[in-house]
Amino acid sequence: MSNWASRNCVIVGASGGIGAAFAEHLVERKEVETVLCLSRKGVAPIASPKVQADRLDYADAGTIEAAAEKAKARGPLDLVIVATGLLHDGEFGPEKSLRDLDAERLTRAFHVNTIGPTLVARHFLPLMRRDAKSVFAALSARVGSISDNRIGGWYGYRAAKSALNQVLRTAAIEHARRWKEGVVIGLHPGTVDTQLSAPFQGNVADGKLFLPAHATSMMLDVVDGLRATDTGKVFAYDGSEVPA
Ligand SMILES: NC(=O)c1ccc[n+]([C@@H]2O[C@H](COP(=O)([O-])OP(=O)(O)OC[C@H]3O[C@@H](n4cnc5c(N)ncnc54)[C@H](OP(=O)(O)O)[C@@H]3O)[C@@H](O)[C@H]2O)c1
Repeated sequence: MSNWASRNCVIVGASGGIGAAFAEHLVERKEVETVLCLSRKGVAPIASPKVQADRLDYADAGTIEAAAEKAKARGPLDLVIVATGLLHDGEFGPEKSLRDLDAERLTRAFHVNTIGPTLVARHFLPLMRRDAKSVFAALSARVGSISDNRIGGWYGYRAAKSALNQVLRTAAIEHARRWKEGVVIGLHPGTVDTQLSAPFQGNVADGKLFLPAHATSMMLDVVDGLRATDTGKVFAYDGSEVPA
């Protein structure tokens, strides 16, 4: 593909373990000119002249549109990474059984894992560069794969990531009509040592718990290698496709 250079980048969820590690890698790249770091607190995860920070909170949809307006002012975007997500918080963890389900928990899971990233796609995809490869990548998870679901559990998170994958595929189809070199994908980062995975790291096989810097370096290699024909798919950190 022609002229891939991640010059003008946006990270949504730059305060998270994975989002911050993406920012650290991107500022080190010579080609990168700007990294707009968006998060609920609006604080830059690292100090760099390339980094600007602003607020984006899924609880206030107007902040998504306002952040997109600011991004637009800097010219076409080459790379947008959506690294937000919710598996547990102080009040709830992933549901093991139908008995654990309630409307509020499910709504929260879908709000952060599906609806928020969908609205980011709605406002940021029109800003992507059109005359060369551009990449919109949202952090998904292997548990969002329906065909790969053999152990069950984690109803809300699992279903919300499946729904996210469907949104990404649908947006990829529409986007490809005008952005011939535009790529819209989901990314599975592996199990990464962040607060999101912290309560569930006990069963991870030796060598399979990645540091955020390692996981994001592998995912950027995947992003660099993407072609237009990859749009609409979900890829794991090692470049393998995660089945729908
Ligand atoms: N870590 C893993 O093992 C793993 C595995 C598979 C997939 N993933 C996916 O990778 C992505 C990043 O996860 P992580 O491990 O970096 O988790 P993390 O450290 O908990 O980061 C989560 C990010 O989402 C943001 N967020 C949460 N609720 C939000 C809201 N209402 N509005 C806006 N932002 C919100 C957080 O912002 P605050 O800082 O303001 O809370 C934070 O920036 C997620 O999509 C996750 O599902 C992670």
